[in-house]
Amino acid sequence: MNVLVIGTGAREHALCRSLSLDPDVSAVHCAPGNAGIAEVAELHPVDALDGDAVSALAQRLGADLVVVGPEAPLVAGVADAVREAGIPVFGPSGEAAQLEGSKAFAKDVMAAAGVPTARSYVCATPEEVAEALDAFGAPYVVKDDGLAAGKGVVVTSDLEVATAHANACVGTTPGQPGRVVIEEFLDGPEVSLFAITDGDTVLPLQPAQDFKRALDADEGPNTGGMGAYSPLPWADPKLVDEVLQTVLQPTVDEMRRRGTPFSGLLYAGLAITSRGVRVIEFNARFGDPETQVVLARLKTPLAGVLLAAATNNLADLAPLRWSEDAAVTVVVASHNYPGTPRTGDPITGLDEVAEQDAPHAYVLHAGTKRDGDAVLSAGGRVLSVTASGQDLTEARERAYRAVARIRLDGSQYRTDIAAKAASEA
Ligand code: AMP
Ligand code: GLY
Repeated sequence: MNVLVIGTGAREHALCRSLSLDPDVSAVHCAPGNAGIAEVAELHPVDALDGDAVSALAQRLGADLVVVGPEAPLVAGVADAVREAGIPVFGPSGEAAQLEGSKAFAKDVMAAAGVPTARSYVCATPEEVAEALDAFGAPYVVKDDGLAAGKGVVVTSDLEVATAHANACVGTTPGQPGRVVIEEFLDGPEVSLFAITDGDTVLPLQPAQDFKRALDADEGPNTGGMGAYSPLPWADPKLVDEVLQTVLQPTVDEMRRRGTPFSGLLYAGLAITSRGVRVIEFNARFGDPETQVVLARLKTPLAGVLLAAATNNLADLAPLRWSEDAAVTVVVASHNYPGTPRTGDPITGLDEVAEQDAPHAYVLHAGTKRDGDAVLSAGGRVLSVTASGQDLTEARERAYRAVARIRLDGSQYRTDIAAKAASEA
């Protein structure tokens, strides 16, 4: 099988790595990719947001499967363009990707499907904002309706901060009203559960936990994600089944009923509250960095699973096989991330990790580029250092040992990824 992956992040590096290890895969291509992906795939300098260009590339390469990684191309309809060319694509249509692209749309689908989520109001004016904030009280949860790379959400007990963010989302430009979702605060640990679906059958993957805040002990601003681990030793073993029955299957069924079937990866961001599981958000694609740990544990070759989803054959797929090992990933970010990150700094120590820590630990690249023999930082999240072990303690030790070998001026990482879960296991 000849596979083309669209995207540039560590998630795409993890996807390309798994595909390159699949005996059924003869060639892995990636557009546009990064310096690390270049080691496992052939790169093509094509704009990921340009559906016609992606579709033309897939046709030129004779791709048997296209996998779209990030949300922006999905929302822009890149999967539709590839599908129209008759090539199987793993990823929802632009319309179905609204499950991630619009928080208000997601709330509407959840209400229709009876999926448990935070009570919420969609507001379009400062008056509605003030009423909604008053109705819920502190802590306030304010979400920009559109895509914001995980940074459009403010959770605060400060009414002024909540009001300012909400009014900024609503906007003041006449004729260009924005929308903001204000919702009930959900207390309790978060879980990311991914499911592969062809629009009918839903195949849940193993749950993971993500660390969204920039600093240790969940301090600092929200980020795209600073680390992840899987499995979750503290979670109820029935969790996956329960979420399949109450969240994933009803959502997929409702999308089909609306005439916008959702195929690809349905990502449920969940809060395990004292009153039960609640959906915080849906995403229409693999999560980053959770994918790095979920794929580290998946034993079934990846390409056949993604192709079955893309061709409506999931019902016939054998059950997925999982490693008993635990996996941890630690994100190394640039100076000043998640503000305006500094880029262009040289990264060293990557060869030492490959020589001394493989195969248990390896480095997945996010924002990197090659400059001659050097690898330079080229984004906010730069690397995703991933390791497996018998348990979370061993996986953490291996991940952090590898992180310690890497030098990138001004870089930062959290030191407490999976620490609590490892100590309680
Ligand atoms: P989202 O972009 O919707 O995933 O939100 C980003 C982060 O904000 C989530 O991972 C949570 O940590 C937090 N968050 C979002 N919604 C809520 C909520 N209703 N209650 C508490 N925290 C929330
Ligand atoms: N890890 C969070 C996300 O991918 O949105």
